[in-house]
Amino acid sequence: MKINLLITGGLGYIGSFTAKNIFTRNKKKAYAIDDLSRGNNFAKKYSKCKILNISEKKTQKLIQDKKINTILHLAALTCVRESINNKKKYHKNFKFQLKFIKLLKKTDVKYFVFSSSLSVFEGNRLKKNLSPYSNYKLRLEKFLKKISSKNFKVIVLRYPNIIGSDPSGKLGEKNNFISRIVPFFYKNILKRKKNLLFYDFKKKVYPRRSYMHVNDISNINMNIIYNYKRFKKNFYIFNLANRKQYSNFQVLEELSKIMNIKPNYEIKQINKKESVTQIIKSGDDISKFINYKPKYLDLKKILKTNIKWFKKIY
Ligand SMILES: NC(=O)c1ccc[n+]([C@@H]2O[C@H](COP(=O)([O-])OP(=O)(O)OC[C@H]3O[C@@H](n4cnc5c(N)ncnc54)[C@H](O)[C@@H]3O)[C@@H](O)[C@H]2O)c1
Repeated sequence: MKINLLITGGLGYIGSFTAKNIFTRNKKKAYAIDDLSRGNNFAKKYSKCKILNISEKKTQKLIQDKKINTILHLAALTCVRESINNKKKYHKNFKFQLKFIKLLKKTDVKYFVFSSSLSVFEGNRLKKNLSPYSNYKLRLEKFLKKISSKNFKVIVLRYPNIIGSDPSGKLGEKNNFISRIVPFFYKNILKRKKNLLFYDFKKKVYPRRSYMHVNDISNINMNIIYNYKRFKKNFYIFNLANRKQYSNFQVLEELSKIMNIKPNYEIKQINKKESVTQIIKSGDDISKFINYKPKYLDLKKILKTNIKWFKKIY
């Protein structure tokens, strides 16, 4: 089968890097859709992108007309904290995703890669008191498992925290709607403003996360798509984590060292619906299926890739 790919959320952060990598690999652009509720126009040059909501009939028509057989589904609202404060908005987006997936029945889509999140974990267990964001990710995982079949194979990728930019400064992270950890810290350090650090006063710990570079994750996406034959079962879940975990405090500290500016900060109690740790032991091992060698293992190396890009946009 010749892969004919559609990326949903193609103008977003991970979507734009994945589209760019695929364009470099194939010398041909993948199809993409994005409703630009987030995302950036500057990413349009990496894919054949239509401005559409995933739940629209026109999306289904595009999938049929272009004979799409593989989907990388990235389109979603993506912020745990925002989802706690604006549950309705995330519920609406969840409904869009359900509708979109159900409409695929009438198409020739055979492979579906779904971007879930490690935020469904607390330590090594699925978290009980979940944020709406993580709850909807789990519900979509379950639904996909239920409908997966030999004619509709599903691969769920639970991403860690994705950060970083292209070291060339040509592409990177830019989200005008939510506050993402590294750009937020960068802007505050630069303007000598106070940073907000979440902390668990009861456990006396800063939340820790696995951080992966956006280029590494987009290579994993691409490798999975072009090695689809290696995935024999109808349904897989992979927990993707980098070698080490880092606290939000360490991210602030490392970034300020790179910028050579001492940071100001205050600490605030973390919401119970957010995880404090995400240590992942369970799950299938993706390195058994694809050649998986992340280029960026340590935090400092990942953070440094942002500098040229941030200087350009902030
Ligand atoms: N970035 C991370 O750290 C991270 C971590 C874990 C999981 N993920 C998941 O990876 C995916 C991509 O994340 P990202 O960081 O690139 O986010 P992003 O916000 O940069 O990209 C998502 C894109 O989807 C689009 N979109 C949202 N709802 C849509 C809809 N209904 N119809 C069409 N387009 C829609 C937005 O406009 C945006 O461009 C998301 O599903 C997210 O939950 C991201």
